Amino acid sequence: VESVIVAIDGPSGTGKSSTSRAVAAALGLSYLDTGAQYRAITWWMISNGVDVQDPAAIATAAAKPAIVSGTDPANPTITVDGVDVTGPIRTPEVTSKVSAVSAVPEVRARITELQRSIASSAATGIVVEGRDIGTTVLPDADLKIFLTASPEARAARRSGELKGTDVAATKEALVKRDAADSSRKTSPLAKADDAVEVDTTDLTLEQVIECVVTLVEERR
Ligand code: C5P
Repeated sequence: VESVIVAIDGPSGTGKSSTSRAVAAALGLSYLDTGAQYRAITWWMISNGVDVQDPAAIATAAAKPAIVSGTDPANPTITVDGVDVTGPIRTPEVTSKVSAVSAVPEVRARITELQRSIASSAATGIVVEGRDIGTTVLPDADLKIFLTASPEARAARRSGELKGTDVAATKEALVKRDAADSSRKTSPLAKADDAVEVDTTDLTLEQVIECVVTLVEERR
């Protein structure tokens, strides 16, 4: 069986991570969470006192942190300079600052290169999830999926994950982050022309997984 490359893009709260991990596990593929890489570099900037509102400072520092992503869908971990930041990259502070950091071209160039190298060394293939995988990082992917869902459904899912936060505030933060990610100059969140769009608003996670697994099997 040849190696297969699957790109899964879409805004936050569409079930990208859960879907991508489950599809990779079901098909014996590696898994890469590219959002975690942008979160990790953002965590490093914050930890090292780099002003995230200063693109020139971020550009200068972009090459410094060593970022290593685990690619096991059962246990996705990420380290920065040898420190496991799998938990710390999910704080509200990192979440609120990641769009500004990921908009800097030097950051994107650095992380994109990492992503291509990880994808090309995956033996059986890989599921790569993000915002610009089908459009920019892996334009020759065997299958491109673009997941969408209504803002209400996305906010409800996120609030469910982050217990205790209210849905209205979650929705506002999500909409703001997606607007920033979609409007940046370099490699914005966008559906590739040849991506299959799946609206997950009225689907269960199991239905989305089944749909994507079927599409991969058709192309393998
Ligand atoms: O997927 P997740 O919500 O963890 O992504 C965090 C942030 O990383 C996004 O809001 C976006 O700013 C950035 N990102 C990106 N390109 C990707 C993946 C994530 O710019 N391919």
